[in-house]
Amino acid sequence: MTTYREFHRRSIEDKEGFWAEQAKLVHWERPPVKVLDYRRPPFARWFVGGETNLCYNALDRHLGARGDQKALVYISTETGEEKSFSYRELHLEVQRAAAMMRSLGVGKGDRVVVYMPMIPEAAFVILACARIGAIHSVVFGGFAAASLAARIDDARPKLMVTADGGSRMGKVVTYKALVDESIRLAKHPPGKVVIFRRGLDPSMKTVARRDLDYAELRANHMNAQVPLTWLESNEPSYILYTSGTTGRPKGVQRDVGGYAVALAASMKHIYCGGAGETMFTTSDIGWVVGHSYIIYGPLIAGMTTVLYEGVPIRPDAGIWWKIVQDHKVNVMFSAPTAIRVLKKHDPAFLRKYDLGSLKHLFLAGEPLDEPTHAWIAEALGKPVIDHYWQTETGWAILSSVPGVEKTPIKLGSPSFPAYGYDLKLLREADAAEAATGEKAVVAIAPPLPPGCMSTVWGDDERFVKTYFGTFRNKQVYSTFDWGIRDADGYYFILGRTDDVINVAGHRLGTREIEEAVNMHSNIAECAVVGVADSLKGQMPLAFAVAKDATRLNSAEGRKALEREVMETVDKQLGAIGRPKAIHFVTLLPKTRSGKTLRRSIQALAEGRDPGDLTTIEDPAALEQIRNALST
Ligand code: PRX
Repeated sequence: MTTYREFHRRSIEDKEGFWAEQAKLVHWERPPVKVLDYRRPPFARWFVGGETNLCYNALDRHLGARGDQKALVYISTETGEEKSFSYRELHLEVQRAAAMMRSLGVGKGDRVVVYMPMIPEAAFVILACARIGAIHSVVFGGFAAASLAARIDDARPKLMVTADGGSRMGKVVTYKALVDESIRLAKHPPGKVVIFRRGLDPSMKTVARRDLDYAELRANHMNAQVPLTWLESNEPSYILYTSGTTGRPKGVQRDVGGYAVALAASMKHIYCGGAGETMFTTSDIGWVVGHSYIIYGPLIAGMTTVLYEGVPIRPDAGIWWKIVQDHKVNVMFSAPTAIRVLKKHDPAFLRKYDLGSLKHLFLAGEPLDEPTHAWIAEALGKPVIDHYWQTETGWAILSSVPGVEKTPIKLGSPSFPAYGYDLKLLREADAAEAATGEKAVVAIAPPLPPGCMSTVWGDDERFVKTYFGTFRNKQVYSTFDWGIRDADGYYFILGRTDDVINVAGHRLGTREIEEAVNMHSNIAECAVVGVADSLKGQMPLAFAVAKDATRLNSAEGRKALEREVMETVDKQLGAIGRPKAIHFVTLLPKTRSGKTLRRSIQALAEGRDPGDLTTIEDPAALEQIRNALST
């Protein structure tokens, strides 16, 4: 038996041999000529010359052995619907969607923006894009019109696919109305919009010649057989936007072959998910976890995947465990916030159901605190594996790898670097390797392994500068996370080094939120920081300077302005970015060169020492922050 340490060492010392072996887990229409081309660092090209297709690997390949096995189980506790699709049925639906898109002129390399709730049609469209070589860009339904418009302008899609509405906690979210608004704001809107009508928004309006009905189009292609578009391994499969330090989201571009291999390998070595088994990932298709582990990963592995629309506590806090029991879920993947929500409820909800099928629960997306880790491991009586990764990497950077070796779990730690990652903890000042127990920047020595981002969509320079520009004399990928390693080699993640915050596992840039706050006509400037929150991990908190302060003289006036600003954020960015509170000040703490001292503000807001203040322009500004926080 190989130990995990040996497995990892081989993945670093013999990259080509290691990944050539993993590449056998997927189908290649034409085998790769070269495993790795790293002639143009830091751009890594994996499985060069190989031709494959993500849709083929997810569906067609399984038709012979498991055509009648369930591929997708859809459960909505919002609408009460429950449906399942066998591999054969899913294959048919995907071909219909592919034919429909082709009839609208969508082909290889064209972008398709998908703005959809958690419904099977979203999966059909995503897989149909993969089939015909179109590049999907799924935007999370919680983002508002202006955010969607910014993504449209960057991706310049030929087509958008949406639904009339979604539902959250029984409340309808009007997706199509939001799409209309985003198209009005966009400079490069798509020519066509396909709408799947769920009957959730009866007042939905359509635009003649631009808007088309999914069901009507589908009816024209019931027996469609759409041939696969084989793609060279390094061609783009999708773009997924993510937040960073600037207000402008980055389009993470993913390849085809490297992603297929990375996912197939992770299903085997990390998730221990085999063909015929069931995986339930509670994320959203709009996030990277949804891409990798609701859609592609489990299907590539020949598993049944569960697509769940709803929250973890409706109709009650037992709903997820009921799903595990009823669908014999073997592998589950969720996020710490969801577990903290469940922790507020009686653990009897967990014990009510037969969880015999479940092997592991994986958690990711934000720091998992020790008490929550201990609580869920105890309540489930199963190994709960914290693993750490990013939209950029597409799969785990740090994880226990139980498919290779069952190493002991340490509470609060995502264990060790996953195979393929040459992980370094580097001192911020001089890029030297940190000592045991010393806090440093989590970095990856390139080349990045298969599955990680190929570049920033349309902006190679931004890719190099953003991710490989942290250290002056060392070209390494920065995760922008702090971490430490203990004497046993276990890693712990200690939060971001940049202005990104993590609200209930949703990654947001404080700059994006500031820009949304500034859209209110009475706001002159503001600073947004993330503050610790016992449920959501972090929450944004805003400090704003009003242009006209007369309204702030009364408590009601202040409350009213705060409410208006919050509504502006909802409208610009989406309710996920809404600050917990907006404090009004007349001055923001800045350095003499005009940089807002966000870290000092954050420290004060979390009751910590504000740190080095020698560069502050006017100490009275910090006093105002202190006073605002104490009222
Ligand atoms: O700060 C880290 C945090 O989430 C960031 C990545 O977020 P996102 O791009 O949305 O990808 C999520 C994919 C699971 C990281 O830079 N993060 C993610 N997982 C963990 C984590 N922080 C601590 N522990 C984790 N397990």
